[in-house]
Amino acid sequence: MIEALGGDDAKTAVALWQEADLTRPWNDATADFRRALESPSSTVLGIRDGGRLVGTAMVGYDGHRGWVYYLAVAKSHRGRGLGKELMTAAEHWLKAAGAPKIQFMVRTENDAVLAFYDHLGYIPQYCVVLGRRID
Ligand SMILES: CC(C)(COP(=O)(O)OP(=O)(O)OC[C@H]1O[C@@H](n2cnc3c(N)ncnc32)[C@H](O)[C@@H]1OP(=O)(O)O)[C@@H](O)C(=O)NCCC(=O)NCCS
Repeated sequence: MIEALGGDDAKTAVALWQEADLTRPWNDATADFRRALESPSSTVLGIRDGGRLVGTAMVGYDGHRGWVYYLAVAKSHRGRGLGKELMTAAEHWLKAAGAPKIQFMVRTENDAVLAFYDHLGYIPQYCVVLGRRID
């Protein structure tokens, strides 16, 4: 069953993100987790197997679009439908929050995952994402 994670899950969630190669040295993944739980318009959804956290999806609604970050399934649990289940739960959470559209960024070096998303009906949006740190 998919649930909204709590502060105690930070360490295992970040370990899962590291295993899934989603963390980068310039991002503080633990702070990312904490901020998602602190804001009323975001959370981190998770799925467990026998109490062990084996999948996550961070979701947030910015008032215009629904976003997904840190979709990860433990290597030991891939290919069993958990990634799809997490994306469905993300869709439900964002729809309930009022978001009319769900979108997310995929790092260019991770383009192999596009086949997974294509399978779920997600198609490229062809925008360039610009960014600058303000912290
Ligand atoms: C991407 C990821 C979450 C997929 O999780 P998963 O639990 O293995 O995927 P599922 O088992 O739910 O697959 C769902 C469907 O997609 C298909 N699928 C999964 N991976 C696929 C791939 N690489 N190419 C094509 N189809 C794929 C499955 O066959 C399944 O099809 P079905 O619904 O017909 O049975 C997982 O591989 C992962 O954690 N990767 C590393 C982190 C990552 O890249 N996250 C995305 C960041 S943008």
